[in-house]
Amino acid sequence: MNDRPVIAVLVSGSGSNLQAIIDASERGEIPGRVGLVLSNKADAFGLERARKHGIPTAVVDHKMFAGREAFDAKLVEVIRASGAVLVCLAGFMRVVTPVFLRAFPHRILNIHPALLPSFPGTHGPAQALRYGVRFSGCTVHFLDEGVDTGPVIAQAIVPVHEDDTEESLAARILTEEHRIYPMAIRLFLEGRLTIEGRKVTTKGAEKIPDFSRRNPDA
Ligand code: GAR
Repeated sequence: MNDRPVIAVLVSGSGSNLQAIIDASERGEIPGRVGLVLSNKADAFGLERARKHGIPTAVVDHKMFAGREAFDAKLVEVIRASGAVLVCLAGFMRVVTPVFLRAFPHRILNIHPALLPSFPGTHGPAQALRYGVRFSGCTVHFLDEGVDTGPVIAQAIVPVHEDDTEESLAARILTEEHRIYPMAIRLFLEGRLTIEGRKVTTKGAEKIPDFSRRNPDA
C-alpha cells in the first residue's frame, strides 16, 4: 500500500473533501495515498482528520511570512519533502503565486464550489444565490496563475432551490464535490488527462458513469 504515489492535500478548514479523498484512497478507488496534509491554519479540522488516519501533517502559517512568495517557497519545500507527485487544494483559502505553481507544473488540482467560469473567488454558493441562477455546482480544475481560471477536469451540477440559503446550497454542492474530486484524482494518477491549451481531454471518459451530468432532476 505504501509504495503508491503520494498526494499532498492542502486545507484551511473542515477538510470534508480531504476526507472524501482519504476514504476513496483507503477503498482502493484512487491509485495513490494521501502522504501529507498541510494547512495554513493550526486549528483546521482537516488536520485532525489526517491524524485519525495516521497521515503526516504540517502547518505553515501564512502570517509568519513577509510576503506571499516566501510563504509559497516554504509550502514548496514541505511538499517536496513529502515526495508528492500530485498537490490537491481542498478548501485551501490562499491565493498562490508563480513560486508555487512553477514548482509543480500541471500537477496542482483545485476544487471550487461553482460552475466555473461563473462565480470564482470566495463564497461561490452565495454568489450563485445572489445572481439568481437555477443551477450551480462544482468544478475540479488544474491550477493556473489566475483565480479559479485553470483548465477544467470535471464538473457536476446541482439545482438551486428558491428557499435555499448559502448553507443549504453549499451542502448540496459539497456532496457532488466529494464525488468528483476523487474521480478527477484517479484520472490524473492513471495518466488519463491531457491538457491542450484550455482544454483537458480524458482518455476513456465515455466509459466513466456520470462523467458529465446533464438535465439533472430539479
Ligand atoms: C469547499 O466547498 C471547496 O469547494 C471550497 O471550500 C470548501 C471547503 O470545504 N473552496 C473554495 O471556495 C475555494 N475558492 P472542505 O474543507 O469541507 O473540503
